[in-house]
Amino acid sequence: MRIIINSAFLLALFTAGLKTAFAEPPPAFEGRALYVSYCQLCHGVGGKGDGPLARAMGIEPADLTTTVRSRSDTILMKIITGDGKQTITGRDRHNLLSDTMPEWKEIFTETQIKSLIAFLRFLGTSKHELMGDPKVGFQIYQEYCQVCHGVDGDGEGIMTELIGITPMDHTNPIETNDLSNMDLVNSIVNGKGRFMPAWRGIISQSNVEALVSYIRLLAQ
Ligand code: HEC
Ligand code: HEC
Repeated sequence: MRIIINSAFLLALFTAGLKTAFAEPPPAFEGRALYVSYCQLCHGVGGKGDGPLARAMGIEPADLTTTVRSRSDTILMKIITGDGKQTITGRDRHNLLSDTMPEWKEIFTETQIKSLIAFLRFLGTSKHELMGDPKVGFQIYQEYCQVCHGVDGDGEGIMTELIGITPMDHTNPIETNDLSNMDLVNSIVNGKGRFMPAWRGIISQSNVEALVSYIRLLAQ
């Protein structure tokens, strides 16, 4: 009997472990990884059209951080895949019909393109630069922060009910946009209120910066 109970207990632990081990990274985070590998070359780190290949391509440096704002997801899908882009009308249409913007329909899945769009939206709305490496931040967040802040950063980690706390929802872009990178760094390094621990001495400065960048990409 004891063996059965123990294995049920172990199974429960194992499944709980799986849930955290396979945390789904947020779309903008996935999109950024794709952007860095496939788009940055022409469009530049911040989306301003100043990538190292831009000059060679003779690109009119369109600033994605502003143009994308007025474009719907459907239009962006057409622009990125190239599928149906001829049906796009209005401003800057001529740029889009040129061959310089590659057609990515064979390269990415629909989910990947949606992640790319999420990252382009992030570039258009975030007031803050990504100060550290979000890939590193993702790992540290799952290791130290998700117990309270939640696997997805929504502030609903398993500790919240146990100790009765309500951390802020890091997926809310309006709330997080109001906080500067320094505000976030300070809360992490020095702690905040009674239950946000101070991580000084536990997490290095560059890893704190990585966490801040990851938190920015949680915005939905
Ligand atoms: C070889 C260079 C090159 C690469 C790589 C590239 N683009 Fe482009 N892209 C262009 C050019 C040229 C245009 C048209 C001129 C402009 O608007 O910048 C363009 C336009 C766009 C636009 C439309 C901008 C507007 O008017 O709203 C979007 C969105 C876009 N690209 C997204 C992407 C994404 C996402 C990737 C990566 C998957 C990517 N591009 C990779 C060259 C490139
Ligand atoms: C024991 C639970 C707990 C853990 C673990 C925890 N936090 Fe927090 N965190 C909180 C609570 C509660 C708050 C809200 C504090 C307040 O406003 O009084 C908070 C606030 C914050 C804030 C400030 C946001 C604001 O309102 O200014 C940031 C940033 C933050 N946490 C990041 C992290 C990061 C990154 C980690 C992991 C390294 C982490 N937290 C781990 C509970 C936790």
